[in-house]
Order: sequence, then C-alpha cells, then structure tokens
Amino acid sequence: MKASFFTITLILLLINVSCSKEVSTDDFLECLSHQFNNYSSISNHVYTQINSSFSSILLFSIQNLRFASDSTPKPQVIITPEHEFQIPPIIYCAKNKGLQIRTRSGGHDLEGLSYVSQVPFVIIDLIKLSEITIDVGEKTAWVQSGATLGSLYYMIAEKSPILGFPGGVCPTIGVGGHISGGGYGPLMRKYGLAADQVIDARIIDVNGRILDRKSMGEDLFWAIRGGGGASFGVIVAWKVKLVDVPKTVTVFKVDKKLEQNATQLFHRWQYIASELDKDLRIGIAVAKVNTTQQRKNQTINISFISLFLGRIDRLLPTMQENFPELGLVREDCIETSWIGSVLFHYGFPIESPKEVLLNRSESSVTNIKGKSNYVQKPIPKKVLEGMWSLFREAEAADASLIISPYGGRMAEISESTIPFPHRGRNLYKIHHVVFWDEDDAQKSDKYISWTRRFDKYLTPFVTMRPRGAYLNYRDLDLGVNNVVGNTSYAQASVWGKRYFKGNFDRLVRVKTVVDPGNFFRNEQSIPPLHSIV
Ligand code: FDA
Repeated sequence: MKASFFTITLILLLINVSCSKEVSTDDFLECLSHQFNNYSSISNHVYTQINSSFSSILLFSIQNLRFASDSTPKPQVIITPEHEFQIPPIIYCAKNKGLQIRTRSGGHDLEGLSYVSQVPFVIIDLIKLSEITIDVGEKTAWVQSGATLGSLYYMIAEKSPILGFPGGVCPTIGVGGHISGGGYGPLMRKYGLAADQVIDARIIDVNGRILDRKSMGEDLFWAIRGGGGASFGVIVAWKVKLVDVPKTVTVFKVDKKLEQNATQLFHRWQYIASELDKDLRIGIAVAKVNTTQQRKNQTINISFISLFLGRIDRLLPTMQENFPELGLVREDCIETSWIGSVLFHYGFPIESPKEVLLNRSESSVTNIKGKSNYVQKPIPKKVLEGMWSLFREAEAADASLIISPYGGRMAEISESTIPFPHRGRNLYKIHHVVFWDEDDAQKSDKYISWTRRFDKYLTPFVTMRPRGAYLNYRDLDLGVNNVVGNTSYAQASVWGKRYFKGNFDRLVRVKTVVDPGNFFRNEQSIPPLHSIV
C-alpha cells in the first residue's frame, strides 16, 4: 500500500517536473502575438535565448556575479516594455503557458530573485520604464519603477536645491525593488524610509488590471510599501513625497584604526547614535585595510560617516556635546548641497558633476553574500573584539560591516504603519557582507560560510524571537518556499516573521485576496492562505 502511494507521488512529481520543462517559448510568443493588436510595438523588446542581445540584456543589470554563471538558470524570454499597457498581455500569456515571472527594476536583489528562477520563467525588465516627473510646488514625484535612485536624486536636484528623498546610497539601485522592500539611507533618522514617503502607486495585478491607490485599496497599497512587490504584481510607478533639506548640509568621514582607539569609539557610538538630534546621522563602515604595502600587515578601519542637515557651526557644538571622543574638528567637515552629500556618501569626489549619478552600469560588480541583524543593547567591547577576530580570517579579505543608526523618525513610526516593522527600540542595524572576485567563484562556499559564522557569533547580541532581518538585504539562508507545490504558513513564517514580524500575517491575508492562485511567487514570496498544507 505504502509503495503504491510513493509510486503515485513519484509519478505526479515527474509529471510536474516534465510539464515545467515542456513549456515552450514559441507557445508563449504566439500567445503574445495574439494579445497585441500591433505585435510589432512589443516584438522589438522581446529577447529569446537565440537573440544575439539576450546575454547582454540579461547581464546588464545583474549586480551579483554569483548569479551570472553559465550554470545559473536563464529565462526563456526577457521583455523590456516601454509602456505599462504592454505588461498585462505578458502576465496573461505567462499564466496561460505555465511560465513564472520575475520582475526586475535595478537588479540589486542580493539573491538574484529578479532574474533567476528554478522553473521556466520570463523576465519583465523595467529598464525602459524609468520616467521621473517632479512637482516642486506639491513636493512630490511620480517615479517609474525602472528608474534608478541616482536618476531620482539627480532629477530632484535639477529642480530644487532644497528638496531631497530619503533612499539608499548606491545610485544604480532600482526604485521598484528598493521602495517595495523599505529603502533606507542617510536621511532615515530625519524622515524614515523611502517606503514611508509613498502616497500613490500603479500596479498591475494577476488579472492584468492596472490599479492605482484608489482602485487597489488600502490593504494592497499597505502591502507593497515594504512587503516586497514581487508577491503582489508588477509595480510600474510610485508617487512619493519629497522632503525638505537645507541648501547647505555638512558631511564628514572620520577614519579610525584599531590602534587609534576605534573599538572604544564604536562602543561609545552605540550609546549616542540613536539618541542624536534627527538632523544628525552618523553611520559606521568597518573594513580590513593594509597598514603597509604588504597584505600581511593589516588592521581594521572604522569609518564614521555623517550627514548633518545644517552647517558646520551648528554641527561642531552638537558633536562636542554628544560625541566629543571622536575629536571632530572643522577640517574634517565639508559643507555642500544635499546632492553633494549623495555623491559623498557613495564615494564619488564631492565636486563630481551630478551626471555621474545617471550612469546605470555598475563598474565594480562582484560576488556578494550578506546578512542583516538588529541591535537593541550596546554590544560589549570584548564582543566587538571577537568580531574583529572574525574579520582577520582569510575569507574576510574583502568583508565589511555597514552599520546604520536608528532612532529619530524611525522610532516615531509604528511597527504596523507599513510592512517594514523594525522601528522603535532598535539602536542600529548591522549588515555584514563579504565580496569576492570572479576568479574565486569556485570557492563561493567558503565566503558564504564566513557570513554564517559571523551571523552565529552575533546571535546573543541581536534581536530575537523573531530575530530581525531586512528584506532588502535578502538572505535565502533564512528559509525558502518550495519550488514545486505549496508552502505552509508555518514554513514561510520562519523567514516571513524575521522580515516582517507581526505584519507577516496581514501580508498573507492580502496575498490571499489579491493573488489566491499564487502566480506571483519566488523563493521568498508571501504564500496565500489556501496553500497551507
Ligand atoms: P531588483 O530588480 O533585483 O528587485 C529586487 C526584488 O524586488 C525582486 O524580488 C524583484 O522581483 C522585485 N521587484 C523589482 N522591481 C519590482 C517591481 N517593479 N514590481 C514588483 N516587484 C519588483 N538597500 C537600502 O535600503 N539602502 C542601501 O543603501 C542599499 N545599498 C545597496 C547597495 C548594493 C551594492 C546592493 C546590491 C544593494 C543595496 N541595497 C540597499 C539593497 C537594495 O535596496 C535591494 O536589493 C532592492 O531590492 C534593490 O532593488 P532593485 O530594483 O535594484 O532590485
């Protein structure tokens, strides 16, 4: 009896697998040709594996070389629509022909979920949907999802020297993935996340309807602001509030090596960074540096990198009062515009023309693996020293910690306002990340193991039950949906609660209503309730 049950299960599984293998690109294209009155309007933007541009289009936005190898599964088709009305037919035909969809805006997903799938799939690449319209009077912008953060910042600065937007640092990040996963940057303590600024959006749902805030309803509008867009549809544009920034802001970067009391300074920083005036944000970056030309003489450098929404004359007394140990002096500080601070934070020379922010092609793409954690109690000095020991390991040759202070506006917004829940009580977030170059791709496992060891080491010192993690620093180690078949609520909760805490349940309810058949799915998408097994 048991044997026959197994046999049937095996047969069903084989049918399932072989069905997915048999999905034909031609069938999909034929379907598409019937869906368009004028197929030639889209056919120039459709790339199949035999198209000579297929690889270059696929690779262009890949920001993590781990998912650019020959063995990485490739899409059957990539489509780069120019208009939102071209997307519903793609969804219809993908559904109809058994292909999954991966939506890509900027391609920065740390686990490659916008361009990799284990089952046959189509990429909707929004690179050509990148229009930005700024309304200075209303202090708002409509931004299409394929626009980059760099182009958004550039366009704002073109229109006004006293408006800004609180998003991430890297200019090539796509607005689509960034805002739908939260999106933080140097203005976070003053204004919160990119997702906190959204006042309207346009999304195409599983039935191909193009919806705005009013027609999608407040539940779905809530879900896509931090709950990850890919579970709910294809978001084509966001309307966001722009925020006030002074004409002149101040930035500084003070580097301290371990031999210069850096551990003590980090330790002290933990007590003050989340308590500072909202106008002042001091982030930390930790990395190994050479003390001499030879690599064997290495130490750890801790950079204190700051944006102050005011002039030096107001910053210096604030620093003297709150963090005198850093010894900040006038010569460390640079007064600039907000857009100058954007260039500075990314590491461009501050006098660079702001046009550099428009460059979409990232010059330093490499292999990356990272993890995030939240800290609510200062980490003791001895433990920090243990962290530096892990940094001395060979696998951490090119590792960093990116540490973002919380408090300020972040602590004022409730945990359930949007799906991103990591608000009050957090002192800071740690993102530990390791990079390795192409030549070492065969040795990926040892670098990935390092991030796991580091994560394990942090366990007693970071938030627990649930242990917090940031969706935009995607980490598939936290758990994944089943590739074939349903995923139980309990299974998805393991990673879902880490990203969303109590908001996970509401995300599941929204998903159940808007996509009950679970068409929009990936390794960490929100499962609908009826798929509980
Ligand atoms: P990508 O296109 O890869 O999409 C990411 C996810 O969103 C995928 O699941 C994708 O399917 C989905 N998606 C994308 N567009 C969608 C759409 N229009 N509709 C529905 N779903 C969509 N974060 C941060 O907050 N602050 C920071 O400073 C940085 N810095 C940073 C630097 C670097 C080098 C990297 C690689 C990453 C960051 N991040 C970050 C993380 C970044 O915010 C995160 O990876 C975003 O999801 C990237 O958005 P993209 O559109 O570029 O990614």
